Amino acid sequence: MIPFVQVVFLLFLGSSERQWNHVHAFQSSSCHIRGTRVSSSSPSILGTTTSLRVATNPETSIDPTGKRTTPKEVVSMFDDFAESFEEKLVDVLDYKAPQNVSMRALERIKEDRNGKLYKSAIDAGCGTGLIGPLLRPHVKGPMVGVDLSPKMAELAAELVVDDAYTANADKVKNRMRRCGEVARTAQNIDRLYDGVFTGDLLQLHDASKIKFIDGLGHSVTSFPTKPVELIVCTDVLCYFGDMSEILAKFSDRLQIGGDLIFTTETLAQGDYNWVMTVSERYAHDADYVRRMAANAGLAKVSQTPFTPRWESGEKVLGILHTFTKTDDVIASTMSPNDLMDKPPL
Ligand SMILES: C[S@@+](CC[C@H](N)C(=O)[O-])C[C@H]1O[C@@H](n2cnc3c(N)ncnc32)[C@H](O)[C@@H]1O
Repeated sequence: MIPFVQVVFLLFLGSSERQWNHVHAFQSSSCHIRGTRVSSSSPSILGTTTSLRVATNPETSIDPTGKRTTPKEVVSMFDDFAESFEEKLVDVLDYKAPQNVSMRALERIKEDRNGKLYKSAIDAGCGTGLIGPLLRPHVKGPMVGVDLSPKMAELAAELVVDDAYTANADKVKNRMRRCGEVARTAQNIDRLYDGVFTGDLLQLHDASKIKFIDGLGHSVTSFPTKPVELIVCTDVLCYFGDMSEILAKFSDRLQIGGDLIFTTETLAQGDYNWVMTVSERYAHDADYVRRMAANAGLAKVSQTPFTPRWESGEKVLGILHTFTKTDDVIASTMSPNDLMDKPPL
């Protein structure tokens, strides 16, 4: 007989994944539907009824049904999900995109920046701040986070690092935890983000629309108006189908020579530039991303296949992109064959 605790654990795993699948990608061949527009109430996916939709890119296509997930939908989805987000992603789905992005920043520092740390950074769509402690050592100056969901951003704002003692060990360096302003100021605990804000990534050019989360002792209280040296964006662009506008906004916020490191989910088929999958997340063709970036003055450094997380026992396919801001637009003249630099991880 299966012990009671095991049953509870299995039920927890099942329901966590079901819930996440509703919010998040459920990668399967049925997600990528080509050639036809499908719009119907559709099969139930792991217990949730999801509308089966395919949105195709205006550049190539016929019938665009939506260029991004609306801000209202994002806020409602992630405000509800905030408290359980880390547990579900990290513990259940083995989410590793923040590690991959921060390691890429470190590689850039070592290989291409002569060991120079980034002077300033924006974590675009910071969520609960999972990348914060990983990226902090690579950014010398101000590092700010911004997210549309106030509940997600508040969790990022509460993050601090300190040197902790545990019962059986000596001091543990750089433990990350959450605490309020009183504890932070009383213990003089080191910052993680220098400022955390709520707002829409498409409005980053207008600092008045990006609101500071007050009351947690951060030193950067208004969103930086000067361009920064690094923008990271981890598992966020799956809420944007059309890449031209968002990449132009990022480019606008970057210094010449600054880096943009981000992830997307992979659209394996080549017929569309992007599609909305059954999970209501967008997947992108990597060459389309490269062309939109080039139009925005961002030159490709690398586009590498990687695994952001697992779902239903299968690897989710993703691409880790690194672009750098140039002072001239690299026209879309590079060969599409330069797409994959490295073999899959
Ligand atoms: C899957 S979570 C990833 C969070 C974090 N980057 C991480 O890797 O843990 C996606 C986040 O993107 C945010 N987001 C989606 N669209 C956004 C937009 N237009 N502007 C700002 N944040 C957005 C959501 O609120 C959510 O917190």
